[in-house]
Amino acid sequence: MSRVALVLPAVDRPDATTPTPLGRLTVPGRAIPEKTVWVDPAEIARLRDAARDVATRAHAPYSRFRVGAALIMADDPQRRAITGANVENASYGGTICAERTALTQAASLGLRKLELLVVSCVATLDAPVADRSPCGLCRQVIHEFGNRDPETLVVVDGGGAGALGDVFDLDRLLPYGFSLGQS
Ligand code: THU
Repeated sequence: MSRVALVLPAVDRPDATTPTPLGRLTVPGRAIPEKTVWVDPAEIARLRDAARDVATRAHAPYSRFRVGAALIMADDPQRRAITGANVENASYGGTICAERTALTQAASLGLRKLELLVVSCVATLDAPVADRSPCGLCRQVIHEFGNRDPETLVVVDGGGAGALGDVFDLDRLLPYGFSLGQS
């Protein structure tokens, strides 16, 4: 299938600053120019199917909430679909989400540039997007491997039947993501 143009709308929100007797309080704004990216719906569907498949192998005996992720790294000449499922632990805190399982696998292959990640929360495909999109910790790990060229995109499985998914670029996925002075 051929690529389609996807418009990432501009965000233009100024800072809002309030003086107080102890110094200024600032609500930081955002200035993101509009950007058009090109995506291949067939590639998204292929990753979506791989994410749903790997979700069947999730280790989720505690929550019973299975999640799968599948991604492509821009620096992978083979453009492999690298997958991961959530792996829970009796300690609870040792649990790893599907997105981080897939990303740590990619990083362990020596890859560092995330291009496209599709996540599928197979039990909540009809739920509001907040109930099927990456947690804050995964957003920060995605941010670590995110890029501007090509723009890293995250697609949240939209359940099919006319809805391929919800698309986030880095700015929309994690505003003010933490970097060690690299931004
Ligand atoms: N989980 C993921 O794997 N990815 C997400 O995007 C959301 C949450 C997992 C963690 C845990 O195993 C289960 O889903 C319930 O939170």
